[in-house]
Amino acid sequence: MNNTIILGAQWGDEGKGKLVDVLAKRFDIVVRYQGGHNAGHTVFIGEKKFILKLVPTGILRPGKLAVIGNGLVIDPAALLSEIDMLIGEGVDISGRLFISGRAHVLLPVHRLMEKVSEARRPIGTTSRGIGPCYEDKTGRRGSRVAELLGRELFRAKFDALMEEKVAIAEALGLSEKMDAAGTRQQYEEFADRIRPMVCDTIMLLNRAMREGKAVLLEGAQGTMLDIDHGTYPFVTSSSASAGGACTGAGVPPTCISHVVGVAKAYITRVGGGPFPTEALDGAGEQIRQRGKEFGSVTGRPRRCGWFDIPLTRYSAAINGIDTLVITKLDVLDEFDNVPVCVAYRYRGQEVQEIPPTVQAIEELEPIYECLPGWKVPTFGMTSYEQLPSRAKEYLAFLEDRAGVEIGCISTGPERTQTIVKPGSRFEELLG
Ligand code: GDP
Ligand code: IMO
Ligand code: MG
Repeated sequence: MNNTIILGAQWGDEGKGKLVDVLAKRFDIVVRYQGGHNAGHTVFIGEKKFILKLVPTGILRPGKLAVIGNGLVIDPAALLSEIDMLIGEGVDISGRLFISGRAHVLLPVHRLMEKVSEARRPIGTTSRGIGPCYEDKTGRRGSRVAELLGRELFRAKFDALMEEKVAIAEALGLSEKMDAAGTRQQYEEFADRIRPMVCDTIMLLNRAMREGKAVLLEGAQGTMLDIDHGTYPFVTSSSASAGGACTGAGVPPTCISHVVGVAKAYITRVGGGPFPTEALDGAGEQIRQRGKEFGSVTGRPRRCGWFDIPLTRYSAAINGIDTLVITKLDVLDEFDNVPVCVAYRYRGQEVQEIPPTVQAIEELEPIYECLPGWKVPTFGMTSYEQLPSRAKEYLAFLEDRAGVEIGCISTGPERTQTIVKPGSRFEELLG
């Protein structure tokens, strides 16, 4: 059994896309289990750059199957434009991409609702309508992809939802012209295009697992953006953590053998919300420039800061991470010193745990230990032995304090710019 969850251990954009691409060669199927086109997973293959939003990253490995699980919210327009982009780039997707009939359909009114809520209580979302679509799912008003395919049912639900949302928006002072009939017709056309890819992905995955095929479950966002475990309300609206992988793909927890957590050698966050180790000085800007820390979906500058041990321990506990991947080590190459947050001070007391409210998290003062920088370019390194001793010491410090094995270190955006630690669980996983 080799079914593995790979997920973000921080606030997203950890480099999951690159790592899924690295791992995918050892798996038969890659499945996305939550989120929508708020995700942006970047993969470089030679000169080509791909940013995947809804389609699992495994699609870029010829012969692998890619599954969009029941836990996602799908904007069909975004999905179809991604599919067209892939075909345009020469990626053969025929017979390889499957969409769950149980995934939910994201509508233009969801973006309208997000405008309303962002105007009233800003979270700094991606403006894609993700939150409102999940609200309708939980509120039992949403439409599943399978309903979109069965016209009559979808029409009735679509019209009712449209009427309701436009009335809410108007009542709250936002009036926007919405072409209900035109949109409905457009969705019916979308339905015709996606129909051949829609199937019972739960059965597909469970059957494949029984036959001994290896499934990689690809998380979007990150643990600190998880609806339950993140810095609520500054979170996304889905379960980005390991528990969400089982519900969002429809596979049992007993079939999962590994959980790979992806974390940057530092930390970033996009949008609002507390961020204890945020570096608001020149160092933060230096990380942003060296790490090209600008959102792959919205282009927004990412907030940058230092590696946070209590946050990593929290994330490891929630997800059961047995292998940690540290990405973007090369971004820290030029620093004289690299601070690492080892605990927090909260109202005068030293604490190791993240409190449950934003108000309390805002009050945390990080306690740093400063490690000497290595001041040697590590960009593109491929073997652990090559790493400068201070970089190794930095990694050993993170591993020791976080209490999780670091099995892989990423030193650049490309597939090949990757170090697999000899004798690690990650090496075993790669086979
Ligand atoms: P994801 O959402 O977790 O897949 O991450 P994103 O793709 O949004 O952001 C990660 C960015 O860092 C992308 O532009 C990657 O190409 C890039 N990247 C990934 N790993 C490395 C690395 O080890 N070093 C450098 N310099 N860039 C990396
Ligand atoms: P990947 O998969 C980083 C953030 C948004 C905002 C919050 C809620 O590429 O790591 P939403 O639109 O989801 O309702 O926004 O979550 N966010 C992400 N940040 N990476 C992502 O995805 C994100 N997806 C959502 O910036 O703060
Ligand atoms: Mg991203």
